[in-house]
Amino acid sequence: MRYLVTGAAGFIGSHLCTGLLAQGDDVIGLDDFSKGKRERITPLRNYPRFKFTAGSLSEEKHLQDIIEQVDVIYHLAAVVGVKRYVEDPIMVIEVNVNHTLNLLKVAWQSGKKVIFASTSEVYGKNEAVPFHEDSARVYGSSTADRWCYAVSKSAAEHLCLGFARKGLPLVIVRYFNVYGPHADSSAYGGVASRFVNQILSHKPLTVHGDGSQTRCFTYIGDIIRGTIEAGSRPAAEGKIFNLGHRRETSILELAQTVLAVSGTKGEIIFQKYEEFYGPHFEDIPRRVPDLSAAEQILDYYPQISLEVGIGKTINWYRQHHYQSK
Ligand SMILES: NC(=O)c1ccc[n+]([C@@H]2O[C@H](COP(=O)([O-])OP(=O)(O)OC[C@H]3O[C@@H](n4cnc5c(N)ncnc54)[C@H](O)[C@@H]3O)[C@@H](O)[C@H]2O)c1
Repeated sequence: MRYLVTGAAGFIGSHLCTGLLAQGDDVIGLDDFSKGKRERITPLRNYPRFKFTAGSLSEEKHLQDIIEQVDVIYHLAAVVGVKRYVEDPIMVIEVNVNHTLNLLKVAWQSGKKVIFASTSEVYGKNEAVPFHEDSARVYGSSTADRWCYAVSKSAAEHLCLGFARKGLPLVIVRYFNVYGPHADSSAYGGVASRFVNQILSHKPLTVHGDGSQTRCFTYIGDIIRGTIEAGSRPAAEGKIFNLGHRRETSILELAQTVLAVSGTKGEIIFQKYEEFYGPHFEDIPRRVPDLSAAEQILDYYPQISLEVGIGKTINWYRQHHYQSK
C-alpha cells in the first residue's frame, strides 16, 4: 500500500510513518514545519520507501499531486497543544477546519480513504465518563479560548462524516493523551513530556491547578498499533474509535510517577492556571475512554503501563536531548 501521512514531522505522524514503513509499505510524508521537526524525519530517510514533501495543506494543487500517488491518507496535521489554542485560536480554526476541508475535498474527488486524527478533547467537560464514541460534547463559553481546539476538531469530524455520506471511505480515531519519545517537551507540549523535561533539567515539576484533574495517558506504540489497524480493517470504515488507555491517572499522580520512575529526587510545585494560560482558562476535570469499539473491531488492547511508558520516554530523552549536558 502507498500512504500519505500529513503532519509527518510531528510527534505522532513521525511514529506512524515508521510503523507503516516497518510493515513494508510506501509512505509519503507531508509537513509544513510549522511545528514539525526535521530530526523526527531524519531516521525515516533510511527507508527507500519513504518520500518527504514539505508544504502546507493550504496548497491545493500540491495536495492533488500527492494524493494522486497514494491509496490511503492518514490526516494528522493540525495545530495541537493547549498553550497554542489559547494563544492563537485563529490559526487553530484555519488549519484544523479549513485545511482539513481542503484535504477532504481532494480525497473525495480522487476516491482515496482518509483516517482522521481527532481527539478526546471533543467530549469537552462532559462529566459522564467513560466517554463512548456517541457521548455528548459539552463545551464552555467562546470567551474561553481553550475550547477552540475541541470545536475545530468537532467541526472537522462533521466535515469528515459529511464527505463519508457522499461516499468517501473514512475512519475517525480519537486519541487520549499520547506520550512517548519525540513528543514536544517544551511549554507547548503535553504534560507527560513536560514533566520528563523538567525532571531531566533538574527543575521542579509544575502541576497546574491542584493536580486532581485526571487523564488516561497512552503510550505512542499503542496509539500507532491502533491507528494502523483502524486504517487497514474494512470493518472499521465509517466508524469512530476512541484510542486510549483505561487507567485514569491524576496529574499529581503522573508527577509522582515521573519522579519515582526517574529515580531522582525532585520537587512538585503547583501553579495557578491563569499564571500559565492567561485569564478565562477552564480545565477538563476527567477524561476516560470507553474502549469497547476499538477492542471489538480493531483488536486494540493497550499494552504499555504508565510506569513502563514513562521509563521508555525518560530513557529516550536521556539518550537524545540530554546526552551532552
Ligand atoms: N499528542 C496528543 O496527545 C494528541 C491527542 C489527541 C489528538 N491528537 C491529534 O493527533 C495529531 C498529531 O498530533 P501530534 O501530537 O503529533 O502534534 P504535532 O504538533 O507534533 O504534529 C502536527 C504536525 O502538523 C504539522 N502541520 C500543522 N499545520 C500544517 C499544515 N497546514 N500543513 C502541513 N503540516 C502542518 C506541524 O508542523 C506538525 O509537525 C493531531 O491531529 C492532533 O490533533 C494528538
